[in-house]
Amino acid sequence: MTKQKVLITGMAGRIGTVAHTRLADKYDFTSLDNVQVDNFPSHIADLADFEAMRSAFDGQETVVHLAAEPSADAPWEVILRNNIIGTYNVMKASRESGVKRVVFASTNHVVGNIPMKEEPYKSIYEDRLENQPMSVPMVTAERHRPDGYYAISKSFGEQIGSYYYDEYGISFIALRIGGVNEENSPWTMGPLGRSLYLSHQDAAHLIDCSIGAPPSVGFAIVYGISNNQLRFHDIETAGDLIGYHPQDNAGI
Ligand SMILES: NC(=O)c1ccc[n+]([C@@H]2O[C@H](COP(=O)([O-])OP(=O)(O)OC[C@H]3O[C@@H](n4cnc5c(N)ncnc54)[C@H](O)[C@@H]3O)[C@@H](O)[C@H]2O)c1
Repeated sequence: MTKQKVLITGMAGRIGTVAHTRLADKYDFTSLDNVQVDNFPSHIADLADFEAMRSAFDGQETVVHLAAEPSADAPWEVILRNNIIGTYNVMKASRESGVKRVVFASTNHVVGNIPMKEEPYKSIYEDRLENQPMSVPMVTAERHRPDGYYAISKSFGEQIGSYYYDEYGISFIALRIGGVNEENSPWTMGPLGRSLYLSHQDAAHLIDCSIGAPPSVGFAIVYGISNNQLRFHDIETAGDLIGYHPQDNAGI
């Protein structure tokens, strides 16, 4: 069987490496990044330069859009170029080249001010776990409470995806990713980190589910977090919509 052709932007990065090392047997990956990825067809271009990045999209069925400035406190000028203009260019190039689905790396920071400002979630951030109710209402994907320009750029990504789905019929699945570190270990983080932890195994599974979800999943926003004891983001919807069933748990 021929493998689905999938372009990964940001494939040289942390999550891109998790995806291409764990899923390469299943998909025909091409990289689009500022830097070379060995052993894969590799387009080297800046996403903010439309003419330079456009040809990478030809012949691709799905785009996994990971490339971005990933720092939550990066300055506006950096966010504007990499995350806002970059994501606009990804959507425009996808439309022009007939891509069927874009999987977008959004972030928990879209609702990042919930644990900063709202009880009972604040008790996790402030490490007052003895005050934490046994079960907190899960934060759903309808909510937005961004904690900076980075988070706002990811809200923008979700909204341009909604618009391109309605206007041009491109399927769009936004993943509000928790926390993925290179060590693949939750134990160095505080309680908020353990609530947000996404293991490499679960991250690869999440991306696999998103690429492989049936066409009936037109537009969706889901949280990408392991099955953590301290989690307060809804992952059941991801299970229902795309079959995401995380195996790992960062513990308490
Ligand atoms: N790692 C996490 O915990 C986490 C959490 C939530 C969301 N995310 C999101 O997931 C995505 C991947 O995160 P990561 O941790 O792998 O980041 P990373 O910094 O390790 O990788 C990003 C990659 O994108 C490339 N890139 C950045 N700007 C580019 C541009 N303008 N043109 C071309 N290439 C560009 C970089 O060269 C790099 O290879 C990002 O969109 C990030 O915002 C990550």
